Order: sequence, then structure tokens, then C-alpha cells
Amino acid sequence: MSSKPKPRILLMHPILDPGPAILAEAAEVVEYSLDLPLDEAYIRQAAEGCVGIVSQLMDPIRDGVLSTPGLKIVSNVAVGFDNIDLPAATAHKVMVTNTPGVLDDATSDFAFTLLMATARRVVEADYFARSGKFKGWAIDMMLGADVFNATLGIVGIGRIGRGMAHRAKGFNMRVLYYDPQGLPPDAEQQLGATRVELPRLLAESDFVSVHVPLTPETQHLLSTPQFGQMKKTAILINTSRGPVIDEAALVEALTSKKIAGAGLDVYEREPAIHPGLIPLPNVVLAPHIASATVRTRSEMSAMAARNMATAVRGGRPPNLLNPEVKK
Ligand code: GLV
Repeated sequence: MSSKPKPRILLMHPILDPGPAILAEAAEVVEYSLDLPLDEAYIRQAAEGCVGIVSQLMDPIRDGVLSTPGLKIVSNVAVGFDNIDLPAATAHKVMVTNTPGVLDDATSDFAFTLLMATARRVVEADYFARSGKFKGWAIDMMLGADVFNATLGIVGIGRIGRGMAHRAKGFNMRVLYYDPQGLPPDAEQQLGATRVELPRLLAESDFVSVHVPLTPETQHLLSTPQFGQMKKTAILINTSRGPVIDEAALVEALTSKKIAGAGLDVYEREPAIHPGLIPLPNVVLAPHIASATVRTRSEMSAMAARNMATAVRGGRPPNLLNPEVKK
């Protein structure tokens, strides 16, 4: 007697162990061809006959894909899910899951790394030393900004923003935060963070670090007027999503010295980086790697695979973003 065939799922990109084994136990895994563009029409074609898609943040999963007959779940290997049209998924009764929690520490660590690297010009200094330009100690060489005792402004006080506040304690920083949803007073006290409106945060912070999800409300949250409110000595850090910052306005603010520097892990049109950022010595640029530690990426893979496996078996996946789809 032949056993029932496993349902098919589409794996958009390879994931890390133990993710593949978890998926293979629950489903027949079809891999998206690396030669195909990440384009809705191609993804739709590849998803035909699949009950699930394991997607990543560069995959556009919108109505054209979500309307694939028989599709039940999209499991995104990321905490951010702005690449997926959630209302369209809900309308088509497709479950959407993400990977919250497991990447918080790695991402806060990296935001703080960018803050330190930009403040103390680490990348510039490394180039300088490697290229044989170091001819001897000089009192005015590579002067940077103080981090200890400085003021940190955190835009968005979710798990990763709170992680930044926690790290800032070790540097005796004064911490301000802006978030439409404030923290309970005991949490504020524990973190040593004070809630303020955005203009005040921008005016008083030496470092502004962005930790909001990308939504229509947060798109270009920081643009020309906001850069104009910042200190000329301020440094901007972004590890959230590129479009939260108006990149052209940022280039203008950096080149006209309205602000002093930026540490960026994300870009408005990834993987493209605004050409105006490339020659600037006062910016540190990373290729969207804030969650890239061995442990974190493996846990993200496992979590996404478990979300998929649970849904394929008819269950309610743990990290369901649209619970109304699965009663
Ligand atoms: C990474 O950017 C994520 O959203 O997980």
C-alpha cells in the first residue's frame, strides 16, 4: 500500500540546520531556482501546487502570490514581514508567520556595534592603517565622538529597542525613547529610559538608533525636517528597515553636515545602496547582517521550519501574525 504523498512546499532560499530536516519530515520541499528573479509572477508560478512558502525578506509576497489556489501558509524567515501583504494574506485565508524573539540580542548587539564603529571611526581607521598611511601618533588623528555618558535616543521601544537601552546602561548613557506605545513605569525605571516626543529626542540625542517596523506610518519617519532637528554632532544608526529613513535626504544631511555620521545596516532599495553614501567617510555601511550570528540564523531557520511544519500538519503555528485565519 503506498503512503499518502506529503504536501508540497516552496523553499525560496536555503535555510540553516536544523531547518531543512524539520521541513523534509513534514513536506516535500521544492526549491526555488536561484536563477529566477525574485518577482511575483515567477514566484506564483513556482508556488503552484504548494500549500506553503518559506520566504525571506527580499521575496515580494503580495496578492499575485497569495491568491495561489491551495496556498495555506507563508513562513517568513525574519521578524520583519513588510515583504508580505498581510491584509491580502488574511483575505485569501493564508496564514503568515515570522521569527520573533530569537534575533533580538544579535540585532541589538549589532546596532551597538555600528554606534561604536561610527563614533570611533573604526572602519576608516582600519583602512588608514592597512594602506600604510599610519606614520606615527598624532594628537589630532581620527578624532571621534564620546559614547560613555552620551545621550542615546531610541526610536521604537520594542524588544530590540529595549535591548539597546539595556546595553546603553553599561556605557552610563542617558536614554530617551520615542514610541507611540509607552512602556509601563516599572519597565522605564528598570531600563533607565525616558519617554519623549520625537522632536525632543532628535534635538537632545548624540546617537539616534531606529528600531521600528516598516509600516505606512513609519515610512520616511526620518527625513529632511527631522535631520534638521538633530544635533550637528549626532550620529544616526539604522538596523530596522531602509525605507524608515529617506535615504536621499540622509545623504544631503550628511554631505551638508547637518548631522555628523551614520551607521547603516539597511537601505531603502536593497540591495542597492544610495550612491551618495558610498564615498562618505563618516558612514559605516553593512550588508543587512544585524541578525547574522551562527546561533541566531540557525534558530530563525528552525523557528520558520517549525511554523511551516505545524501548519502543514493542520495545526496552528506558534508565530501566527493573522490569527483570524486559523480559528
Ligand atoms: C531581519 O531584518 C529580520 O527582519 O529578521
